[in-house]
Amino acid sequence: MTRAEFEKVFYSMYGLEDKSPSGYFAPGRVNLIGEHTDYNGGYVFPCSLSFGTYLLIRPNKRGTFRFASTNFSFTAEIGKHRIREKVDNEWVNYPLGIVNEMISRRVSLKGADFLYHGDIPNGAGLSSSASIEVVTAYALNDLSGKHISNLEIVKLSQHAENAFVGMNCGIMDQFAVAMGRAGKAVFLNCNTLDYELVPLELKDYRLVITNTNKERKLTDSKYNERRAECEQAVKYLQKGKPIRNLGELSLAEFESLAHLIPDETIFRRARHVVSEDARVLEAVATLRDGNLEHFGKLMYASHDSLRDDYEVTGIELDTLVNGARKIEGVIGSRMTGAGFGGCTVSLVHQDRIQQFRDKLGLFYHQKTGLEATFYVAEVRDGMQKWE
Ligand code: GLA
Repeated sequence: MTRAEFEKVFYSMYGLEDKSPSGYFAPGRVNLIGEHTDYNGGYVFPCSLSFGTYLLIRPNKRGTFRFASTNFSFTAEIGKHRIREKVDNEWVNYPLGIVNEMISRRVSLKGADFLYHGDIPNGAGLSSSASIEVVTAYALNDLSGKHISNLEIVKLSQHAENAFVGMNCGIMDQFAVAMGRAGKAVFLNCNTLDYELVPLELKDYRLVITNTNKERKLTDSKYNERRAECEQAVKYLQKGKPIRNLGELSLAEFESLAHLIPDETIFRRARHVVSEDARVLEAVATLRDGNLEHFGKLMYASHDSLRDDYEVTGIELDTLVNGARKIEGVIGSRMTGAGFGGCTVSLVHQDRIQQFRDKLGLFYHQKTGLEATFYVAEVRDGMQKWE
């Protein structure tokens, strides 16, 4: 949808007043490696994508917040007195959570009309939620005098999702969506929030995202279960070292303390996190050395660990990665995001992309009966004004 078309929809909903709306954009993200490490204080390595959420917003004189989206039929008009209440399970809870965060930071908000348009495939694990949160926070901050730092936008967006929406996510998605840059991946330490933008020099290779198109169920409850298992692992390990989270342990330290974990499942969950952290460090170094083949091997190893130790993959994601392993020109593949469905990300030679789609699409359909969809990732800037 062009800006002009989008504005037309805006005017037809909210009227043609003297002021035109301001435009903003925040992307989705794909994580290259470092899965289920963020809420454990570990490392992640995501990048921001060209698809995302567009927002047109204009202050109104009604003193209410009106929300609409071209993606969903549900709309809402919410007065100040109802602002702290959730609206069932609706998408508007994402922006509403942000409005609440802004109000609690004493940002003066008098009422505004919002219209969203997203081109991130929904429920694909490419952070459509973080994208809508961050674009809303960025816009409200911009319109009200820019008192809030970019890092604060990241944090308040995560907090809105945890506290208002009720999904206990880590900080990776909001961070990548806000701080990502074109052609770079975000190497983030989730314990300290120190980060570095690492050039994504992929030579003749491209990142191809493959959507399982599997309807995700129980993702939130399984996600919370994994979080609890990691917290339990920390409790056991604290008998040997005063750690706050698994991200504080090197693989060697973990191995020397592992006997303190009496439960086999909890041990495997922790082993995934600590080994995944080590893989992120190695992957970043490997990318800097230009050794893409090795980077790809680490992606496969990450998937194996998520399948066997963390158990968040499932038949659809495993089928995509197993299929990718057999296709010429593919050097790495893994699930990305929370898992249980969603997408894989693969490193594919640019001359083999068509063949990758055809062969993997067929293989996947034969095994699961589902149709996969493919996107060649374009790594673009994070949150921004849409002029
Ligand atoms: C989801 C969460 C992130 C992160 C990933 C798994 O995307 O929102 O915070 O935990 O799962 O790596």
